[in-house]
Amino acid sequence: MAGIYIHIPFCKKLCFYCDFYHVISVADSSAFRVALIKEISLRKDYLGSETISTIYFGGGTPSVFSVEEIAAILGEIRNNFIVEYDCEITIELNPDDVSSSYLAGLKGLNINRISLGIQSWRDDDLKMMNRRHSAAQAEDALRDVFSAGFENVTVDLIYGIPGMTAKDWEANLDFTFSFGIKHLSAYHLTIEKGTVFGKMLEKGQMVEIDEDESSTLFNILIEKAEAAGFIQYEISNFGKPGYFSKHNSNYWKQVNYIGLGPSAHSFNGFSRQWNVKNLKGYIKSVNAGQPDFEKEELDLKTRFNEYIMTSLRTMWGIDLEYIEKTFEKEGYDYIINLAGKFKEYGLIKMDKKTLVLTNQGKMISDNIISEFMMPE
Ligand SMILES: C[S@@+](CC[C@H](N)C(=O)[O-])C[C@H]1O[C@@H](n2cnc3c(N)ncnc32)[C@H](O)[C@@H]1O
Ligand code: SF4
Repeated sequence: MAGIYIHIPFCKKLCFYCDFYHVISVADSSAFRVALIKEISLRKDYLGSETISTIYFGGGTPSVFSVEEIAAILGEIRNNFIVEYDCEITIELNPDDVSSSYLAGLKGLNINRISLGIQSWRDDDLKMMNRRHSAAQAEDALRDVFSAGFENVTVDLIYGIPGMTAKDWEANLDFTFSFGIKHLSAYHLTIEKGTVFGKMLEKGQMVEIDEDESSTLFNILIEKAEAAGFIQYEISNFGKPGYFSKHNSNYWKQVNYIGLGPSAHSFNGFSRQWNVKNLKGYIKSVNAGQPDFEKEELDLKTRFNEYIMTSLRTMWGIDLEYIEKTFEKEGYDYIINLAGKFKEYGLIKMDKKTLVLTNQGKMISDNIISEFMMPE
């Protein structure tokens, strides 16, 4: 059981919040496709003999590629890896790339999970974030996805956008849940350094919403998602039973994966590596026979901290038996000693086997997680 992530780094327009590696030009897309296909065979041994249970096309914007181009990438994956028959295959789509014929083509490739980047149903928010599409286009796209016969459909939304009120957020959620989606990823807007929003913040042209507002919006999200039958299995991810993202859940459960394309990360249990974050550098290095990457060997403390960081964000929480087995008495005692005060304040729930955040704890998850990390 292992995963494959494919990073398609092209975007037609710059979203003002986005810090994911992308280039605003499709000029190099053919050269990139050739290099990507080559990288698949060059790195076919990275996962040993593990079979592939999830494939995820992310970006950037995978939907800049035609059905034939996606087919060629999937074909090469099948030539070089053993793909399980019920493999979850997800593709991120930008609403304005969606058409009935495109969707029918993707269905024909056995892609079985669609992730639609809607972000907001309010045109004001979409304009402010410099999205390429309107709310009406997003609605058409979502309807088209269902009409094409996809049932495992997830939507991305962003909240905490300056100018979006609690009522707007409620309306966004209500409208989202009025479709038959099976999964929602809802992210609080993060203003990253170096993005357009980051620069606006520095110049005082933008103000972040305050913590109380953030908590109110997060509470609304939790309540509405639960009322609509969704389970919050990770801080930002909500799924109907049976529809949690297998690919992302595997990241959080330390399952191995290979990341293909510029900036993509790979993990094999002992080390992490990440491809060069530069399209031209990536293409050149792959064509020369060795994708350029950096690597970090994971010592026990790093593995402990990574485990804390990912597991505490999930509904499964920290598995205390796993901690004792992997990090021995030292790791186990470290957690138990810290847990008391958080339990007292109602921020965590703990039994003999697991330690999970309560709803109150989820509000300040970043602070709690950093307290549980072992210092360097
Ligand atoms: C890798 S992005 C790409 C998805 C796709 N290209 C699109 O734009 O629809 C995945 C999701 O992360 C979220 N995201 C990216 N940057 C964010 C930020 N700074 N704050 C909050 N959410 C963000 C957005 O919801 C986005 O759809
Ligand atoms: S949010 Fe998506 S479309 Fe927008 S810049 Fe980021 S990757 Fe590209």
